[in-house]
Amino acid sequence: MFVAKHKMYIGGRWIGKKTLFDDHDPATGNVIARFPLGDELDVDEAVFAAHKSLDAWSKTPPPSRAQILLRVSSMLRNEKGRLGRLVAKEMGKVLPEALGDVQEAIDMLEYFSGEGRRLFGNTTTSELKEKFCMTLRRPVGVMGLITPWNFPFAIPAWKLGAALVCGNTVVLKPSSDTPLCAYELVRIFEKAGLPPGVLNLVTGPAATVGEAIVKHPEIDGISFTGSKATGEWITKNAGLKKVGLELGGKNAIIVMDDADLDLAVDGIIWGAFGTTGQRCTAASRVIADSCIKGKLVDELVLRAKKLRLGSGLRKSSDVGPLINKAALEKVESYVAIGQEEGAKLLCGGKRIPGRGLFFQPAIFDSVGKEMRIAREEIFGPVLSVLEFDELDEAIDIANSVEYGLSSSIYTKDVNNAFRAIENIEAGITYVNASTIGAEVHLPFGGVKGTGHTREAGIMGIDEFSHVKTVYVDYSGKLQRAQIDTE
Ligand code: UN1
Repeated sequence: MFVAKHKMYIGGRWIGKKTLFDDHDPATGNVIARFPLGDELDVDEAVFAAHKSLDAWSKTPPPSRAQILLRVSSMLRNEKGRLGRLVAKEMGKVLPEALGDVQEAIDMLEYFSGEGRRLFGNTTTSELKEKFCMTLRRPVGVMGLITPWNFPFAIPAWKLGAALVCGNTVVLKPSSDTPLCAYELVRIFEKAGLPPGVLNLVTGPAATVGEAIVKHPEIDGISFTGSKATGEWITKNAGLKKVGLELGGKNAIIVMDDADLDLAVDGIIWGAFGTTGQRCTAASRVIADSCIKGKLVDELVLRAKKLRLGSGLRKSSDVGPLINKAALEKVESYVAIGQEEGAKLLCGGKRIPGRGLFFQPAIFDSVGKEMRIAREEIFGPVLSVLEFDELDEAIDIANSVEYGLSSSIYTKDVNNAFRAIENIEAGITYVNASTIGAEVHLPFGGVKGTGHTREAGIMGIDEFSHVKTVYVDYSGKLQRAQIDTE
């Protein structure tokens, strides 16, 4: 079978290498492409190119920068079907979700193109006469973007949209599980007329390419989405760079006794097993009122057992494969840990023999909040069910983990809903909806071990820009703040 050898994109040129790595289709194990195994020297060249183009790009009027984002957005829209199938093949998510991933990239670039004509600062009064005060947005400089495989178009687009409209230049290192999607995205940026050097693509492992980006003295900022452990490593090694982190989650859905149970079941199944549980916003814990827990769990198990595993490309599939062998082994090990800890496995929890990396969606009952399956991010189709009697107790359980990304409560009582909104420690709370499905014009991010960055929405601009404070004194004389104020 012919396998295409792809290149990296540095300084506006496509650069091949002798040493390559394989890009697999997780549903079949087939190699679908090969990519250059980049190294420190490639990062160095990419940083050099990004620096060279920084002056001109940062001085290009933001509305012109935004035009390119808008063009990329419409080119993605024209190719949505092809690119969606590529996501389904390279990453494994089922086609409707794969198309959603591309749509999120389309929407995010469209949204940030609007910022080209805003990028607002503030104006305010001065304590002195004939003096004017304002704030302006300035680019950070050269940004290193390190992106995951679970949203192979959307997350690079989130970061690129904000970074480029703010006038930064970029070195992008995509996950080695999904370099082909990143390659396609970069090619579209090139076709849309992005000047050479503004966006550079370096493929290769975290241990060389990722590390070189994080430690590079000429990179001014890092934006990373991925695991908590890597986020902690970045914090220690990035020096004084501006660092943005979107780390993991252990997201809980609280189900009250007055909830619409059918609605809650739909939301839990979608949140726990959509994208095969491989979302940082995935619902990995259900905290159910003891009065309705039995009924809820019975229904969840019925529904989970009906989910059809298969290639993301197949119309009949509900749940795709896991991304790679290490992920499969990790998920499998957590099922064993859950059983050793004394939780009750109600369904699933086994891999399907064969070349594809398929794993049956698993539900654990009788989970205690101290158990590892209730605290650690599994990043796969494993759901833990916990129980409570009072809302305060449910909120305590929800908050008992080190993460704080998404959360949800199903209830018909407005008082319960507002108590949860106020007290759950998370960056996002949904009411009567699942933990996944953020929209591009709202801030996205977490608290605690998830990191504190906000991407998307207007706050996405903060991650990719500095605020400069400006004082203009037009009095023509020395005026001293705090002293000449009378
Ligand atoms: C992630 O899992 O890394 O809200 C991001 C959601 C998606 C983004 C998830 N739009 O679930």
